[in-house]
Amino acid sequence: MNKENSTMVKTINLHKTYVSGSLAVQAVRGIDLEVKKGEFIAIMGPSGSGKSTLINCLAAIDTPTMGDIFIEGRNIAALSDDELAEIRLRKIGLVFQTFQLFELLTALENVEMPMTFLKMPKKKRQERALELLRMVGLKARAKHLPSELSGGEQQRIAVARALANDPPILFLDEPTGDLDSKNGQMVMELLASIHDKGETLVMVTHDPEMATYADRVINMLDGKVLNEEINNKTKKTN
Ligand SMILES: Nc1ncnc2c1ncn2[C@@H]1O[C@H](COP(=O)(O)OP(=O)(O)OP(=O)(O)O)[C@@H](O)[C@H]1O
Ligand SMILES: [Mg+2]
Repeated sequence: MNKENSTMVKTINLHKTYVSGSLAVQAVRGIDLEVKKGEFIAIMGPSGSGKSTLINCLAAIDTPTMGDIFIEGRNIAALSDDELAEIRLRKIGLVFQTFQLFELLTALENVEMPMTFLKMPKKKRQERALELLRMVGLKARAKHLPSELSGGEQQRIAVARALANDPPILFLDEPTGDLDSKNGQMVMELLASIHDKGETLVMVTHDPEMATYADRVINMLDGKVLNEEINNKTKKTN
């Protein structure tokens, strides 16, 4: 199979309905989506259109009401709890809008955390965490707590942590949403460089400027895909 064209994530007729009391909210209403390996997808759409719901289902932290999700060809609904935990640890990196770093842990310890779950020896995971911090330009801040770092720095730590176990796919829900334009730009350039190295990225954003970094933009409305646009940009060849 041609790796360039193989499918990383796929959904078939995905639905998610939230029921609270007598009220049902159809957050996602029949989404068919295919993300190729190495592709960078931006998901846009108005508030409440289902972007976070979709990305949470794709990242296996929420369960669809109907429809199927395949990650590297495996239907995640058919997996045992252990298999699903394994997929979450090894296949999926996740970055939230509000960083969600562990406040009592240093930058280095935050990045080490996912490797601890995989029982990687301490020396090895510290080396890798330092290498990841170097990659996001924050090696000198390894010993700092999140509260001692700027928003942009915290978000770059969150990206480093999401990459710790070298997951083939990275999901990001408004990773630049809480950042000023300078810090947002810095995070986007980091994501673009990760993408250039072959990572698959699925990013929710409100910001059309940020979406220009993606290969493809999917516009959502009322839980459905309204349309999609291919970004024509000159791709770097390396
Ligand atoms: N846990 C929940 N329980 C009930 N309704 C929910 C829940 N989560 C989301 N919703 C509803 O589902 C719809 C889609 O929400 P979602 O968070 O996916 O939107 P979004 O596109 O990410 O919006 P935003 O741009 O504001 O982040 C909204 O109407 C929301 O109120
Ligand atoms: Mg959202």
